[in-house]
Amino acid sequence: MSDTIIGIDLGTTTTEAAIYRDNKPEMILNFDGQIVTPSVVGLDESGNMIVGEKARAQYILAPERTAIEMKRKIGTKKPIKLGKESFSAVELSANLLSYVKRYASQYLEEEITRAVISVPAYFDDIQRQEVVEAGKKAGFVVERIINEPTAAAMSYGIDHMEEESYVLVYDLGGGTFDVTLLEMFDGVLEVKASSGDNRLGGKDFDERLIDWLRTRFEEKHGVKIAQNVYAMARLKEQAEQCKIALSTQEEVTVRIPMLAEKNHVPLALEETVSRKQFEELISDLIERTHQPIHVVMADSGIGRGELAMVLLVGGSTRVPLVTQDLKEFLGIEPVTEVHPDYCVAQGAAVCAAMIGEQLEDGLVMTDVNPYTLGVRTVDLYNDDIMSVIIPRNVTIPVTKHDTFSTLYPGQTVVDIEVYQGESEVASRNHFLGHFLLEGIPATTRENEKLDIAFTYNINGMLQVEATVLSTGKKANLVIDLMDSGKEETVDVSNWREADCASAYRSIIRRAEKWLRQNEKDEERSEDKGAENARLEELLYQLKKAILEEDEDQADELADEVEEMLDE
Ligand SMILES: Nc1ncnc2c1ncn2[C@@H]1O[C@H](COP(=O)(O)OP(=O)(O)OP(=O)(O)O)[C@@H](O)[C@H]1O
Ligand SMILES: [Mg+2]
Repeated sequence: MSDTIIGIDLGTTTTEAAIYRDNKPEMILNFDGQIVTPSVVGLDESGNMIVGEKARAQYILAPERTAIEMKRKIGTKKPIKLGKESFSAVELSANLLSYVKRYASQYLEEEITRAVISVPAYFDDIQRQEVVEAGKKAGFVVERIINEPTAAAMSYGIDHMEEESYVLVYDLGGGTFDVTLLEMFDGVLEVKASSGDNRLGGKDFDERLIDWLRTRFEEKHGVKIAQNVYAMARLKEQAEQCKIALSTQEEVTVRIPMLAEKNHVPLALEETVSRKQFEELISDLIERTHQPIHVVMADSGIGRGELAMVLLVGGSTRVPLVTQDLKEFLGIEPVTEVHPDYCVAQGAAVCAAMIGEQLEDGLVMTDVNPYTLGVRTVDLYNDDIMSVIIPRNVTIPVTKHDTFSTLYPGQTVVDIEVYQGESEVASRNHFLGHFLLEGIPATTRENEKLDIAFTYNINGMLQVEATVLSTGKKANLVIDLMDSGKEETVDVSNWREADCASAYRSIIRRAEKWLRQNEKDEERSEDKGAENARLEELLYQLKKAILEEDEDQADELADEVEEMLDE
């Protein structure tokens, strides 16, 4: 396998890749000679998959077979429709990553197979696993998942190895807000705490502007356009451009000829938006960034006065109100030294170089583990206890151990089961693996003491070692969290082809219709979102059962779907 590892920033709106060579990160150009690739995937007229700029250009013409912002659907199991076909966010992200793999291979003139991929610090385990899955589907060996703000800080840290300070990374991108507090000293970057909001970004600014423009247009002309996907796609594109222009201009006029028609007369949208008006539309969204900042400061016990700098990351930090708000809120001028669009990919490339041992100066980076790790233990009253060895949010790499004893004298074997999660009941957590510690001496009259040590390294690898204290006998287990088994999602889009499909057609059609109608409400209410997600999961299971010709299971699931719809 080649030594080359690239870093990839798989963003909500844009994707970038970088490589560390000649002692610095270098951005990789795509087939169009561009650094930035739109995170857009679609099917063209003949049903071929298209990716990046081509797909983005198609969006206003054919939004129904173009997928944008897939990253927001990662971890939700929500199907994404392209024309008549249905895809998962993992599959579409895999297409995007496979495009990156191809252009990086061309640019670097060698077959690229290894990558470090960044994710929002706030992504949970399932979301992270899905990103790894997408990477694998694209043909990558995913060497590491790195948190985006940590990557951003690394791209800064690599040039500022000697400085000492607390740094706040404020990353407001297209779809997610991440904030991370790090300590920098002597080439060491230590993450103190991370927080954020997985549903806050430039996309939300766009939506406020879209709503505002749409309402004005509808009131002026007495037509409704919310259901018109073509009109809405054009409006979205123009609203985003208007927002971007307002970052440098005080006032912008949006003109969209023939946005809709009334009695066969084409209607144009023409509206002037001032920066002030725009700021009023989004001020509460910007205020929502304050809470996660409070959280990371409190968690790491650092006061505002101790913060030395704020790194701005993500395209949405170009909105002047963001900088202004931060200045007022934190009392410091944010640093603009890192490139907000490139630094995450650059940091991922620095991380890749660290893994490949290509860094000359020793930059050391530490992160925190997002989830609790432990073993299942048993006492007289309870046989399913989660005994914590490494608590969550502890700085990694880390080694911790604890002493346990055998259940009864004479016991020669212990089965050690390892779990990850926050429940006190072991089996409710995510099972990572198990191993046997054998050859415990049966001679003593007392219970044998055992030491169990967990080492969690920077690559997300957990090593567990158990030792019989009286004899020193050891047994161990290495768990690659990047590889830990998760049920594969199967493609169920061709369920209609199964023999028993006809019996379920009508219920599935009803459910899908219901889902479509609810998509809109969902944006507004969390409950609706959960409901939809449950129904989608049921539908997925139902289609899977149909494909497996498991009619008993399918009947049961169909009843459940029916019940939900009746509610
Ligand atoms: N000059 C600008 N002014 C305002 N917003 C901008 C500007 N340039 C880009 N944006 C917005 O920044 C967002 C994209 O930022 P970025 O590329 O950092 O996000 P991403 O990495 O794709 O998303 P995420 O990190 O949330 O997954 C878009 O919403 C875009 O409209
Ligand atoms: Mg980003």
